[in-house]
Amino acid sequence: MIIYRKIAALKANLEILRETVKLGFVPTMGALHDGHLQLLRKAREENAFTILSIFVNPVQFNDPGDFKKYPVTLEKDIEKLLREGCDILFLPHQDEMYPQGLKPVESLDLGLLDTVLEGSSRPGHFQGVCRVVDLLLSIVEPAQLYMGQKDYQQCMVISRLLKITGRSTQLVICDTEREWDGLAMSSRNMRLTEEQRKIAPEIYQLLQYFEKNLTSGNLSYMKDYGYATLNEKGFRVDYIAFVNAESLKNISSWDGKEAVVALIAAFIDDIRLIDNKVLAS
Ligand code: PAF
Repeated sequence: MIIYRKIAALKANLEILRETVKLGFVPTMGALHDGHLQLLRKAREENAFTILSIFVNPVQFNDPGDFKKYPVTLEKDIEKLLREGCDILFLPHQDEMYPQGLKPVESLDLGLLDTVLEGSSRPGHFQGVCRVVDLLLSIVEPAQLYMGQKDYQQCMVISRLLKITGRSTQLVICDTEREWDGLAMSSRNMRLTEEQRKIAPEIYQLLQYFEKNLTSGNLSYMKDYGYATLNEKGFRVDYIAFVNAESLKNISSWDGKEAVVALIAAFIDDIRLIDNKVLAS
């Protein structure tokens, strides 16, 4: 595996490679877990050459405290990537990515995606994600970009970004990787104490309950049940939402046909966990 820290050097190498082989790209913020490694494995299956980036992107954190606490496990990450057979690790410094500083740039029109759910709870988050992903795509210019469904709304945002920018990169969305008890894999899980880790899978159990109990008509009873269940277990719920799986428009009463996804964001102390499940497609 070759590690690049400089954009110019990486670009120069990829320019030659891109002519002959298909490039698969996995952007990450490090603290790699099996979810990331599955993305890499899929990228390796489908492309002759794989690039993974690790960059904790400051401009996507609406809460500076969250940025400071974001886990960094670089040595372990590199070991994992070597074991997996990643071809290139791109590991840029902040000054390399944002030489003009972190001041906000012109915002993209992401429509509803920017104002609901994660967009409403984390103002500016998706603009920051788009800023870094677009920059990374302009450097790597991969044939395929790999992202996990755990970040459902982020996948929709990136799909929108690709449309807006007209890039030819194809977005490949991979299933959420889960721990044995259903907890969605996330770098933030590393911060959970033993006690917190025990209650964390409740989010997925609730999503499974929603799937089993989805019937046409008013969905507010399910939402109420969800809030009551998570509050009782010690979570602070940010949102529980039933939305159209393509537009993210709220569904208060389900017609029995519309594609619907349930999304949950909830805190255990200051650790924010998110998960989702497509209940009907
Ligand atoms: O999902 C993430 O880890 C980040 O949002 C991403 C896509 C790497 C951009 O910083």
